[in-house]
Amino acid sequence: MLVVYYSSGSQYTHRFAEKLKHPSRRLPLLTKSDTLLIEEPFVLITPTYGAGVNRGSVPKQVIKFLNVKANRDKLVGVIGAGNTNFGENYCRAAYTVAQKCKVPVLYRFELLGTPEDVEKVDKGLDLLCQRQLNTAI
Ligand SMILES: Cc1cc2nc3c(=O)[nH]c(=O)nc-3n(C[C@H](O)[C@H](O)[C@H](O)COP(=O)(O)O)c2cc1C
Repeated sequence: MLVVYYSSGSQYTHRFAEKLKHPSRRLPLLTKSDTLLIEEPFVLITPTYGAGVNRGSVPKQVIKFLNVKANRDKLVGVIGAGNTNFGENYCRAAYTVAQKCKVPVLYRFELLGTPEDVEKVDKGLDLLCQRQLNTAI
């Protein structure tokens, strides 16, 4: 299952995505850069930035990417990256995207994740691949 993710300069999400067995594509860092066009089912990983301080918590490049209907149509689910120090706003962006795009939040992890997080996400992505294959037959 393809993974599409945004990761800022701190690169935590990038480091997590690199450890997965599944292929991944990174959204551009700069908002002004062209976004990606994805033509196969994918899972999005998004960190949360600044929830609860009167600012949008979804990174701008994630919004730009999901404003393309063709991309939204291929979105299977969302994984949240965040920090539990943010309390009730932990991984808020994943919930915002899930609600707007009517897909489930599949998992949440903190910062660059643990080896257990990587294993669980890999297994979940394996299951999603199998499900896609079954529905294709
Ligand atoms: C200014 C700032 C605001 C943040 N706000 C939140 C938040 O509201 N909720 C949350 O779960 N994490 C929040 N985080 C934590 C990041 O989502 C977390 O560090 C994430 O792993 C960053 O991923 P990245 O390095 O790939 O961009 C915030 C981090 C920063 C620097």
